[in-house]
Amino acid sequence: EWTTHNVVEEQVAAIRELVGSRRAICGLSGGVDSAVAAALVQRAIGDQLTCVYVDHGLMRKGETEQVEKDFVAATGVKLKVVEAEERFLSALAGVTDPEEKRKIIGREFIRVFEQAQAEIIAEAGAEGEPVEFLVQGTLYPDVVESGGGSGTANIKSHHNVGGLPEDLEFQLIEPLRKLFKDEVRKVGEELGLPAEIVHRQPFPGPGLGIRIVGEVTKERLDLLREADAIARHELTAAGLDREIWQCPVVLLADVRSVGVQGDGRTYGHPIVLRPVSSEDAMTADWSRLPYEVLEKISTRITNEVRDVNRVVVDVTSKPPGTIEWE
Ligand code: XMP
Repeated sequence: EWTTHNVVEEQVAAIRELVGSRRAICGLSGGVDSAVAAALVQRAIGDQLTCVYVDHGLMRKGETEQVEKDFVAATGVKLKVVEAEERFLSALAGVTDPEEKRKIIGREFIRVFEQAQAEIIAEAGAEGEPVEFLVQGTLYPDVVESGGGSGTANIKSHHNVGGLPEDLEFQLIEPLRKLFKDEVRKVGEELGLPAEIVHRQPFPGPGLGIRIVGEVTKERLDLLREADAIARHELTAAGLDREIWQCPVVLLADVRSVGVQGDGRTYGHPIVLRPVSSEDAMTADWSRLPYEVLEKISTRITNEVRDVNRVVVDVTSKPPGTIEWE
């Protein structure tokens, strides 16, 4: 009989049996899949698992804290956080091309992760038990997709923690391989993970780096983080989280337009709201958000976020638009 309780029990027993007294590593992205996979493995083998979280400085407001504090509090997982904001920002300096940004972020991510991995292996080796396993949050649809060879053209070079080192010295543990997304969320709830993590909407691996059209700088990231936090807060307050698939908030950093505020002329940047509804992100429709909600978001962003004097809504479906702007 399929119950989340049984799935957890079965997986925990199987992982314990497989790993024995050896050790495992898991990369956390802040997303649902890696969090649930890590929580399951932690329940099975406790401190023999070490999780790695790379803080690339491209996360949204509060997300890094969610992993560092809430996830650790809920699971008791052993976590290694690598602060790499400066490294990512200097690698991205002067870069405006979307594919180049994606490649740089993906490349730096793998380098930082591999370095952390090497440190963990060295520490563990000193205590006698080898690290032989890498945990990944692969879901059933990912398994089908990669095995299916459907030949779909790669429109954007996707990057996520699931695509990490093809290191053959590791054996993979993929406890979510037979599950769909909604089942993964249920398993997460069963494991006591915070709702903000379990019901998190999709967020791209390259983070806010691909939601700034133009060069990525710390100042622009901070500005976008403020606007994004306001939009997310208001969408949640309006009870729309389960209705929309996701709502990227995009900063057009190289565009300025004239506005007026108080007695003065302004010359600021536009923020784009990109709310979409979708089943699987392959196609999407733009969400018809209630006007009152749009008004609230627009008023708050233009009042509260310095240098932003205009909010626009993207009403393009996918295709022809993609969900993200880059
Ligand atoms: P697009 O923009 O291609 O996005 O319509 C489809 C879905 O994928 C997400 N996305 C990513 N997810 N790594 C990820 O893990 C990535 O590099 C990436 N790029 C886009 C996007 O948020 C949407 O849900």
